[in-house]
Amino acid sequence: MSPSARQGRRDPFGVVVVAAGSGRRLGAEVPKAFVTLAGGPLLEYAVRSALAAGPVAVVVAAPPSHVDEAIEVVEPLSREHGIPVQVVPGGVERGDSVLAGMRWLPAECEVVLVHDAARALAPPVLFRMVAAAVALDRPAVVPSLPVVDTIKRVDGNLVVATLDRESLRIVQTPQGFRRDVLLAAHATHGSLATDDAGLVERLGVPVRVVDGHPAAFKITTPEDLLRAERLVADAARD
Ligand code: C5P
Repeated sequence: MSPSARQGRRDPFGVVVVAAGSGRRLGAEVPKAFVTLAGGPLLEYAVRSALAAGPVAVVVAAPPSHVDEAIEVVEPLSREHGIPVQVVPGGVERGDSVLAGMRWLPAECEVVLVHDAARALAPPVLFRMVAAAVALDRPAVVPSLPVVDTIKRVDGNLVVATLDRESLRIVQTPQGFRRDVLLAAHATHGSLATDDAGLVERLGVPVRVVDGHPAAFKITTPEDLLRAERLVADAARD
């Protein structure tokens, strides 16, 4: 298909939800995606949001020890939305989990969104916006927020530099990619970055930023979990 024919066309997208991390910093007894937030596991929130955005399919990379539990969580959601949701065992590194998920996505998913289950409250509109922004000339798109704090680089307990915060962004997920670009990035650079866009940058492919969403914060600490609980309670009251 010519680039002009693609203009204005929305490519079918698939979502890989990476949920195979341990969540040590949360201090929980179960992997982080299975920590309970207002009555349901984080994984349920993340998959529900992804499905509400209207993908072709969703695949969850679960901790190998929790594949059956993940299937129990996602099966009713898949039925409710009429969209297939597959669970696969995740890998040792985050990148391994992304690759395991991508392998399963149907070939028609020319656009792939990768989402951290730990960003459980990222709203469906963010998935839709990122998917819609990926195009031939925008092969990689990440949601981001401005940095409000002053950020310093340190060496031990000595400040080495103060960074220009105007040029810094907090980067979230879902991150969106043309499938071929994401596959090439993982094949070439493996687990050399903490996010997928970092691998794509190493390929020399431009990565665009779009507006992120405050609710897409990563639930990492017990304080983050409290913040998420307040947001869910507020939403239930509205
Ligand atoms: O460890 P970190 O917070 O960067 O993990 C981000 C996301 O990647 C989490 O949702 C976690 O479950 C996932 N992950 C994974 N497989 C790994 C490590 C992390 O799916 N081996």
